[in-house]
Amino acid sequence: MENTAAIMPRIVTPVGPCSAAHADWASGKSAALPAKIRMTNVQKRFSVRGRPVEALGGITVDIADHEFFTIVGPSGCGKTTLLRILAGLEGMTDGSIEISRELASEASAVRPINAMVFQEQSIFPWMTVRDNVALGLKARGLSKRSRYAAVEPHICKVGLEAFADALPHQLSGGMKQRVAIARALANDPEILLMDEPFSALDEQTKLILEEELLRIWEETRKTVVYVTHSIDEAIMISDRIMVMSARPGRIKDVIDVGALFPRPRNMDAVKASPRYGELFNRIWHELREEVFASRAGIQG
Ligand SMILES: Nc1ncnc2c1ncn2[C@@H]1O[C@H](COP(=O)(O)OP(=O)(O)O)[C@@H](O)[C@H]1O
Ligand SMILES: [Mg+2]
Repeated sequence: MENTAAIMPRIVTPVGPCSAAHADWASGKSAALPAKIRMTNVQKRFSVRGRPVEALGGITVDIADHEFFTIVGPSGCGKTTLLRILAGLEGMTDGSIEISRELASEASAVRPINAMVFQEQSIFPWMTVRDNVALGLKARGLSKRSRYAAVEPHICKVGLEAFADALPHQLSGGMKQRVAIARALANDPEILLMDEPFSALDEQTKLILEEELLRIWEETRKTVVYVTHSIDEAIMISDRIMVMSARPGRIKDVIDVGALFPRPRNMDAVKASPRYGELFNRIWHELREEVFASRAGIQG
């Protein structure tokens, strides 16, 4: 497999108002927040054994500062590729991405641009929970004492205070994902990228972690780009949902969930609302169309 692309995201100072209006959930009013991420015609082509594979067919969207932005789409439509491009792990073939950095201050100078939480466990088995969470701060040169002091509130936020000295093999799958989330939060990145973080977990653990993530996000209000295959999870947690087409991934729909379900949200109340069912069906029909389209493409 070769990679022909080299265009990387540009880090800029604030890039102006976001093209989408957002519900300011504190006031209940619609507000134009500044754009945190501006993607323009992002395209990605892989070359597999000399043959081009179009993964992304031109994505243009602004993501607002403090927005919880979720991507759903059929398997293989380029969701992970888009996150990897945002993380700077992969280049684009064409297009541009601007990520705005907070105005320069001593703190922002050392803040990482992004932190990524993956589906698979990405914590180190030989390190305690506390050391795993503090990993990014070690790389920034903080002393052990200040690292440990800084990570304590994040360990508590994900409910692992009793396990701070435990090793990963002593934890359940859900607890390991909590460690990964605490580590991402402790790094205090400009944007948080999450690729199906709960998809390997059992249903009940997933529901509990979703509820916790909703609570943590409503406290921290980081800019999050979140990939999930769960329509339910997307509706519960997002400000907006971007539905992608089958490969090459394009934008099929962008849904303003914030306008339908103001925050702070109560999961039970959202599920009981007739608007929840309507929205679920809308997204499900859009995805089903794409799954059939991609199957026809494979068979044809
Ligand atoms: N490193 C790579 N080399 C070649 N093809 C790739 C590579 N990464 C992803 N692809 C292809 O790009 C498409 C999109 O993949 P991916 O972003 O993983 O999809 P998703 O996360 O939506 O399931 C798929 O057809 C996949 O096979
Ligand atoms: Mg993926």
